[in-house]
Amino acid sequence: MGIYSMEAAIEAARLEEQAYGGNYSIEAEFRNFSFAPNEVVMDAGCGTGVLSRYIAEHFKVKHIDALDYSDLRLKQAKDLLKGSAKRAIHFHQQNLNELEPKFYGQYDTVICRYVIEHMKDPMLVLENLKKTLKQNGRMIIVELDGVLINLYSNHHVFNRYLEELKGKIQFDMNIGKKVPSYLKRIGLSDIEWSASLVSCQGKNLLEERDNTMKRFIALRDYFIGIFGTKERSEEFQRLYLEEMDKPENTLVFTKYVCMGKNI
Ligand SMILES: C[S@@+](CC[C@H](N)C(=O)[O-])C[C@H]1O[C@@H](n2cnc3c(N)ncnc32)[C@H](O)[C@@H]1O
Repeated sequence: MGIYSMEAAIEAARLEEQAYGGNYSIEAEFRNFSFAPNEVVMDAGCGTGVLSRYIAEHFKVKHIDALDYSDLRLKQAKDLLKGSAKRAIHFHQQNLNELEPKFYGQYDTVICRYVIEHMKDPMLVLENLKKTLKQNGRMIIVELDGVLINLYSNHHVFNRYLEELKGKIQFDMNIGKKVPSYLKRIGLSDIEWSASLVSCQGKNLLEERDNTMKRFIALRDYFIGIFGTKERSEEFQRLYLEEMDKPENTLVFTKYVCMGKNI
């Protein structure tokens, strides 16, 4: 069904933890949104279903369809469901690149959080998701710009590794800032967006360090593919964590929450 770089079982724990931490807080991302009681919502690329559960717990929506193409992630998501969220959330195994027409025209709100950054063709996914909106429905995309790659250091060996990663990675690590323009291109109107800076210092740095270590575990095979050998991949990861910890080095990235309407 396609290649996703972070399929590992332990990735579920990281997705859950980051959603409740400060740097990727769902509560902060969705502070300015509300959901009406009759809304039908899609959580596209739901992972562990953490966002679907947040919506089900905070709003009385009609129902939420949570889609993901990973069997493992969907199983983990179902295991995490409890209480009234069980009735509200319905899981579906779907590839967002080849979405089935039965989903077309069904949704008041379609949300896609930290998913299109992993896509070879994010526009294809956005076009598919647009088809699932009702008239006047809204699409909300949450994405990052600069995560991982924005670490500034003057360590020459580390910098060579980082440039190698940037050259070979198959995803757009700067996609966040492009999303409002992408929403316009797929024909949505009334585009709105907000951006917040995650400055990795103090508590934020500790959280990002822990998150990065877990990302590296989930990305183990992907990084060996990028760097050619296990040894080079491990050296990059070790240097990354060391450089992250130096107070004179900066790691700052931007989180974009973007919305467009299907008028
Ligand atoms: C970084 S996780 C984000 C999960 C969730 N949206 C969250 O906020 O925690 C990306 C998710 O997208 C899913 N995914 C990646 N490519 C996909 C595709 N082509 N179709 C459906 N799901 C996909 C992965 O299985 C994974 O669960």
